[in-house]
Amino acid sequence: MKTPNSKGQLLGIVSVFALFIISNGRTLTTNNQMIKAVNLGGWLVTEGWMKPSLFDSIPNKDFLDGAALQFKSRRIGKFLAAELGGGTIIVANRSSASGWETFRLWRLNETSFHIRVFNKQFLGLDSTGINLVAISNDYQTSGIFEIIRKSDDPNLVRIKAPNGFFLQAKTEDLVTADSKGDGQWRDDDPSVLEMTIAQRLQGEYQVTNAYGPSKAPQIMRDHWNTFIVENDFSFIATSGLNAVRIPVGWWTASDPTPPKPYVGGSSQYLDKAFLWAQKYKLKVILDLHAAPGSQNGFEHSSSRDGFIEWGQTDETIQETVRVIEFFTARYANNPSLFAVELINEPNAIGVSLNVLTKYYEAGYKAVRKYAPNAFVILSNRLSGDSKELFPVASGMTNVVIDVHYYNLFSDIFDDMTVQQNIDFIKTNRSNELQAITTSTGPLTFVGEWVSEWQVRGATKEDYQRFSKAQLEVYGGASFGMEVLEKSKLVWLWYEEAIEWDRDFIHTFLHIATTFYSFLHLLTHVREAAELEGDFMLKPLNEMEAS
Ligand SMILES: *[C@@H]1O[C@H](CO)[C@@H](O)[C@H](O)[C@H]1NC(C)=O
Ligand SMILES: *[C@@H]1O[C@H](CO)[C@@H](O)[C@H](O)[C@H]1NC(C)=O
Ligand SMILES: *[C@@H]1O[C@H](CO)[C@@H](O)[C@H](O)[C@H]1NC(C)=O
Repeated sequence: MKTPNSKGQLLGIVSVFALFIISNGRTLTTNNQMIKAVNLGGWLVTEGWMKPSLFDSIPNKDFLDGAALQFKSRRIGKFLAAELGGGTIIVANRSSASGWETFRLWRLNETSFHIRVFNKQFLGLDSTGINLVAISNDYQTSGIFEIIRKSDDPNLVRIKAPNGFFLQAKTEDLVTADSKGDGQWRDDDPSVLEMTIAQRLQGEYQVTNAYGPSKAPQIMRDHWNTFIVENDFSFIATSGLNAVRIPVGWWTASDPTPPKPYVGGSSQYLDKAFLWAQKYKLKVILDLHAAPGSQNGFEHSSSRDGFIEWGQTDETIQETVRVIEFFTARYANNPSLFAVELINEPNAIGVSLNVLTKYYEAGYKAVRKYAPNAFVILSNRLSGDSKELFPVASGMTNVVIDVHYYNLFSDIFDDMTVQQNIDFIKTNRSNELQAITTSTGPLTFVGEWVSEWQVRGATKEDYQRFSKAQLEVYGGASFGMEVLEKSKLVWLWYEEAIEWDRDFIHTFLHIATTFYSFLHLLTHVREAAELEGDFMLKPLNEMEAS
């Protein structure tokens, strides 16, 4: 992966392997304990880029749930569009494609799908039985479409409608389901469509639904059994790290019979993780990474199709509160339970502050029923204001605001040089972090960051300088005496830059079995330690004893 250019991919990177540095001033004011943790991402919540082989045996694996397809009529030379984004007819008159021209799959099997448009309606036929429309909000009554790819050119397709005929665009004004599809894929055949895949998702929903109930359980069990093992916990503990963050999905709370397509068995592995954590004296940060309906539309929240539907109904919120309560109750008596992150990265595009506040209040109460002292972590919204959670946090104790800092995902970074990126960390990020790190407010932490940017052709030394700048700025709040007195909690995540070493990413992903990635991490920890004194490298036992 040359340069990760999707948020999903990148968040995945950091969530594979994270370094947390936590200074808990409230309870540890005298011994300055630092916590360094590894994040066990991609284990109980699938992130396809972390383990592409998980998807290898899926037939027609371009067409997973959430694949966003655009279709250009070969004869007319224009893209199909859900007029007005949905609610009416489908036309074939667009010369370029974006939202209204994008169709998202719900996979039924390798060739049959429900298809969803921009405003979330499903494709179907109108009362004439022939005109293609997007008017139904109910997938069950909308219709099933079959997508047939040309054998020697898989980007040419025909789509068979529920009436058994193929879609065709005879004019720009209307797409109809009345072709026999017998035009031999000729250029003048109005049923031939050129397909572009605008987005793919490879999350838990995709992998379990695509393998289906007969195959998915074994595939997931093999993955759970091998991706993270006891030895990882032992290694983390003996490497001077002392915590793990475990991303979990909402379906694990209804194990062993989670709703389809999720498969049973995941809770056994979470149980094992807690036992191993206890055995090796590692603290656990339980992180609800995937909430029902998806809180951000990314694959790491197990979105089915990229839409954000969490929080749109009270039911999704109540269900999520039940999930938090379930997990907290289950692990409250394990001394390793250190923090519960109520939801990871809700997206301001789709989740209002009002809804999130309601959820955070209810989720906090659910944790407190069973774990009076655990930290409760509130993730800031993606694209939200950095202080917007202060009001809700003000009524809570042992509460932490999680901010994620990337020099990515925004135009402002597009043309920045190496030095401009570093300056941005040292001034802008530094100011931002200081502004939210107050003596009376919630604890703060930089929950995620990454040594990746939009710079092309940077050297390893450039990356190292960039990493150092981030460590200094994000770590400043946790290491400084003043910070400790202010009871600040700062988490740092580290992901080794990989621009010059494609193989590194694969090594990195297999932290379960690969020493090399740990050595990279430890090298980096050492660098950080040199910046800050050798405090960080003290083994866990010494830290606890001190
Ligand atoms: C896929 O599902 C459709 C609709 O349920 C069914 O007609 C078709 O036979 C299935 N195809 C395969 C390959 O299972
Ligand atoms: C496409 O066709 C629809 C329906 O006739 C029309 O309302 C719309 O303005 C057309 N758009 C373009 C870009 O031609
Ligand atoms: C970073 O902060 C500086 C100084 O406050 C400001 O002038 C600049 O516009 C900020 N940069 C960005 C990209 O926001």
